[in-house]
This record gives sequence, C-alpha cells and structure tokens, in this order.
Amino acid sequence: MKILIVGSSGTVGKAVSSRLGLDHTVLEASRRTYPSVDLTSDDSVRELFEVIGQVDAIVACTGTVPFKPLRDLAGSDYQDAFNDKVLGQIRLVNIGRDYLNDGGSFTLTTGILAREPILTGAAASMANGALESWVPAAATELDRGHRINAVSATVLAEAPGYHAFFPGFVPVPAARVAAAYAKSVEGTHTGKVYGVEG
Ligand SMILES: NC(=O)c1ccc[n+]([C@@H]2O[C@H](COP(=O)([O-])OP(=O)(O)OC[C@H]3O[C@@H](n4cnc5c(N)ncnc54)[C@H](OP(=O)(O)O)[C@@H]3O)[C@@H](O)[C@H]2O)c1
Repeated sequence: MKILIVGSSGTVGKAVSSRLGLDHTVLEASRRTYPSVDLTSDDSVRELFEVIGQVDAIVACTGTVPFKPLRDLAGSDYQDAFNDKVLGQIRLVNIGRDYLNDGGSFTLTTGILAREPILTGAAASMANGALESWVPAAATELDRGHRINAVSATVLAEAPGYHAFFPGFVPVPAARVAAAYAKSVEGTHTGKVYGVEG
C-alpha cells in the first residue's frame, strides 16, 4: 500500500511511520517536510495531494490543543483546539477522499481525554470527543469502499513530559499505539474508535 502519514515526525507519528513502513510505502508529511502540508488550510492539503497523487491509506497523527485550567480557557482557546485538531483532520478526510483509492482507509487521532478527564485538559477532551462522535457518523456515509477509524490512546511512555499531568494513568509504549493504526489501515473495520490503554 501507498500510505500518507501526516504528522509522521511527532511522538505518535514516528512510531506509526516505523510500523507501517515495515510493509508499505510511506509518504511522510507535515508543515516542515517537502512537500509540506498544513492541515489548517484547504489549499495546502489540496496542493499536497496534487503533488503526491492517489494513495491507498491516509493517516493523521496531528492535533495541537491548549492545556489550561478551566477558568483560564477562553472561547478562542476552544476555537484553536477545534480548528487544529478537529477541523484539521476532518479537512484531510474531506479533501483526501478525492485522492484515496477505492477501498482505502482514513485513520485519525483522538486520545484518552475523550473519556477520562485530567486537570487543564477540557479543550483537549472537547476536541477528542468531537472527533470520536464524527468518525462513526462519517463511516456511514463514505462511499467507494472507503473506511475510517480513530485511535484513542492514553499517554505514551515516550512522552515523559506529560506524565505528571496523567496521575495514575499507565503510559503505553508507542509501538502498542502504532499497532492500533496498523489494525485500522490493514484490517477491515470502519467507524471504530480504538482505545489503547495501559
Ligand atoms: N504524545 C502522547 O502521549 C499522545 C497520546 C495520545 C494521543 N496523542 C495525540 O496524538 C497527536 C500527536 O501527538 P504527538 O505527541 O505525537 O505530537 P507532536 O510530537 O507534537 O507531533 C505533532 C506532529 O504533527 C505535525 N503537525 C502539527 N501541526 C500540523 C499542521 N497544522 N499540519 C500538518 N502537520 C502538523 C508536526 O510536524 P510539523 O511541526 O512539522 O508540522 C508533528 O509531525 C495529538 O492529537 C495528541 O493529542 C498523543
């Protein structure tokens, strides 16, 4: 398969790229690659696909959200979280469907905060929850055999900077999280949200 991975230089993306790169041709993209892509821009996403052409699977390992105490989260913070994590990945699907071969798949990234809150994580929880509601809905209407799933992992062992914000959560190795992306890409499921927890 020819697989586009957006966000492949990140903590999650690196592991996903290594795992899928074992058996497939991986095309890596982010704001700092060539060709580059910025998921907050329709034009940028279209330009990327015009350069790389048709693919068999599209994976997003992106999503930046502000972490702040609830009382400090302004409307603009929620908007930023929504624009980047939610609309960025939805944009990749909306535009990417024209460049995804029949029977191809989308795999998006959410996270455990959709179901287990932490202090300062309300905007992240909102974004993850929105995507986790959207993915099963989108799956019912995608055509040409396209599938869509999301991976919703807990904090990674390889992200120690976050561990103090996740008291009592058991971090998982990135390789375990990457296996969930492989299940989505190489399997048959659609409309699923794969939880990965310690
Ligand atoms: N780290 C964890 O423990 C963990 C656990 C569960 C879920 N998650 C989720 O996984 C996702 C990725 O997290 P991470 O920790 O791997 O983040 P990260 O290390 O900061 O990596 C983010 C990746 O996305 C790219 N990117 C950022 N904004 C982009 C944009 N607008 N357009 C295109 N690419 C963009 C970055 O590259 P450029 O800067 O070059 O664009 C980078 O490759 C997030 O949604 C996060 O909530 C993370």
